[in-house]
Amino acid sequence: MVDITELTQKVGEEVELSGWAFNVRSSGSIFFLQLRDGTGRVQIVFSKSEVDAPTWDVLQALTMEASITVVGVVKAEPRAPSGIELTGISCVLIAAVVGEFPISKKEHGVDFLMDHRHLWLRSSRQEAIMRVRSEIEFAMREFLYERGFVTADSPIFTPNACEGTSDLFEVKYFDEIAYLSQSGQLYQEATSSALKRTYCFGPTFRSEKSKTRRHLTEFWMLEAEASFMDQEQNMQLQEDLTVYVVRRVLERRADDLKTLERDVAPLQKTVEGGFPRIRYTDAIAALQKLGSDIKDGDDLGADDETVLTKQYDRPIFITHYPVGVKAFYMKPDPADARFALNADMLAPEGYGEVIGGSQRIDDLALLEARIKEHGLPAAAFEWYLDLRRYGSVPHSGFGIGLERSVAWICGLEHIREAIPFARTLNRLNP
Ligand code: 4AD
Ligand code: MG
Repeated sequence: MVDITELTQKVGEEVELSGWAFNVRSSGSIFFLQLRDGTGRVQIVFSKSEVDAPTWDVLQALTMEASITVVGVVKAEPRAPSGIELTGISCVLIAAVVGEFPISKKEHGVDFLMDHRHLWLRSSRQEAIMRVRSEIEFAMREFLYERGFVTADSPIFTPNACEGTSDLFEVKYFDEIAYLSQSGQLYQEATSSALKRTYCFGPTFRSEKSKTRRHLTEFWMLEAEASFMDQEQNMQLQEDLTVYVVRRVLERRADDLKTLERDVAPLQKTVEGGFPRIRYTDAIAALQKLGSDIKDGDDLGADDETVLTKQYDRPIFITHYPVGVKAFYMKPDPADARFALNADMLAPEGYGEVIGGSQRIDDLALLEARIKEHGLPAAAFEWYLDLRRYGSVPHSGFGIGLERSVAWICGLEHIREAIPFARTLNRLNP
């Protein structure tokens, strides 16, 4: 058996393919079968006069998504999207379809499609998104590997909050309450003190009550942390990672981007690097000029991010947020302690925040004070404070959302298509 993607190397040869019929059309003594095998799609043309009777019977009874094994001869066909077509020799049924495949060519509503997500994933568009997602994940890992980062996965069951207490999922953990991880960062601060540079990449949980195009309750986040890295170096690392990942997708997933009808011009701009860095205060002034009613001191909302990113042709960093709107662990700027040494990286075309990162507080007394101010349970943070007691060093890190990255790079309207099985405020099935 060969993959459909291998066929361009096999012109003139007889091959066997297994997969699913995604379209069938009969015109008298000619039968057109469109086969998908998960790697690609190809048309196979059978003529009644050249196949045996059992094959012709199987073909006549085929319906959408029946599974089959086909033998045919590969030939170049300039009019086919892949440049390849097969002349069919035989077709054997693996399993017929029971009833009718629920997803047809007609328009379905989003709720219907999400209810049938387990089947919707077979469409060429969803297939393309999943391949891009896989490429992004792999490229992220490869980039960090090349930069000397060690994978050190953070736990999912956690005893306390990292990013704030409002959106934690509680689970029973024997006789205690545990929370599903909303960020692996605090643990990365420990592992990076052991291994210099580490990252985790795993599921992250936030009981976001917001119904937006950008929020999932379960999403994947890569969180990198490095000892002796300051915030400037941290932003450069994020920019380099972004350029690496986008370039990789442009190089290796061009066909999928085409399937998605993604305009690649903005992605090509991103690959040039040179992401603008804009201070929060200047961003607020710019937004007010553009007609936003945002006030100095407010966090940026999704709409503000959209308006702002539309002014630029590549990702931007918004730096130096007021310490009050961000997490307890961010280091204040020594030049002006009202602002944090942090940045959010916002993707262009209105996609908004994809990365959040900062330099961390390395001073024990200040960190103790912040934990108190934020009303966090001191005892649960003792181990975290140990990292400042025993050889504290300047260090920084960031978290990049996988689905936000996929949504942006694929040009998706909604984040729900960026993960195989989305979990949102209203969806836990299938
Ligand atoms: O900005 P966030 O909350 O940062 C952190 O969690 C830090 N501890 C990261 C770090 O410094 N190690 O989240 C980081 C990223 C966001 O920029 C976004 O891409 C993604 O995680 N994200 C979400 N993606 C989908 N659905 C949600 N509900 C998300 N919340 C955050
Ligand atoms: Mg954030």
